[in-house]
Amino acid sequence: MGEEEKPVYGRILLKLSGEGLMGSEPYGIDTRVLREIAEQISEVHKLGIQIALVIGGGNIFRGVSAASGGMDRSTADYMGMLATVMNALAMQDALEKFGIPTRVLSAIDMKEVAEPYIRRKAIRHLEKGRIVIFASGTGLPFFTTDTTAALRASEIGAEVLMKATKVDGVYESDPVKNPQALRYERISFSEVLNRNLKVMDATAISLAREEKMRIIVFNLNIRGNIRKAVLGRQVGTVVEETSYA
Ligand code: GTP
Repeated sequence: MGEEEKPVYGRILLKLSGEGLMGSEPYGIDTRVLREIAEQISEVHKLGIQIALVIGGGNIFRGVSAASGGMDRSTADYMGMLATVMNALAMQDALEKFGIPTRVLSAIDMKEVAEPYIRRKAIRHLEKGRIVIFASGTGLPFFTTDTTAALRASEIGAEVLMKATKVDGVYESDPVKNPQALRYERISFSEVLNRNLKVMDATAISLAREEKMRIIVFNLNIRGNIRKAVLGRQVGTVVEETSYA
């Protein structure tokens, strides 16, 4: 292993969007894509770092969309939380096929399928080299899985929150609608909030800012990106406290 193969972080929280598991399917989980992501995570795990995961649920159920369609918001959010449990179990299965012991910890008690979320237990699992997947969001409606990621990252003392998504980073405007939009390499939390940039929701960003939790936003679909980020190489956009001119 060369000098440049040394990870710059000891403990990370990786946030995957539920949609990231869909691949080209319109809904649910594409097992091929799931395997590919698990393989990428297993490569990073081999570097010896501690990894916690939060996976969204939007590939199965989107609470916000259902609420805008007239469903009670709390009910819709609870359904979304249940969707994250399915993704967590699927990812646990995929990671264990690569030989990585994985524990799913659920914020909603369902002990027949997952361990309950206990912060100190999560840290112990990480110290033992297990990947920990936090399921059921925060266990509370009105909070997104991005907020869950910022919360759990803070609780376990992760050094960085890596948000793997379908775009290459943070743009000045929506790159899908405006192909000319510029991508930031680095940006501060305050700029993200002031410019209302769609990185994560404001609750997640505020918490990360308060905790000085660096966020790296990058494209999950580009193989090797997770590894690059962990090795401290330039990938996507870094959001942190420093103000950039
Ligand atoms: P150590 O205490 O460090 O040995 O951790 P461990 O997770 O290997 O030990 P434990 O005996 O707690 O768990 C053994 C297996 O049972 C693991 O796969 C756990 O994920 C699982 N497990 C533990 N507690 C629960 C629970 O409350 N519900 C479910 N569904 N599984 C559990």
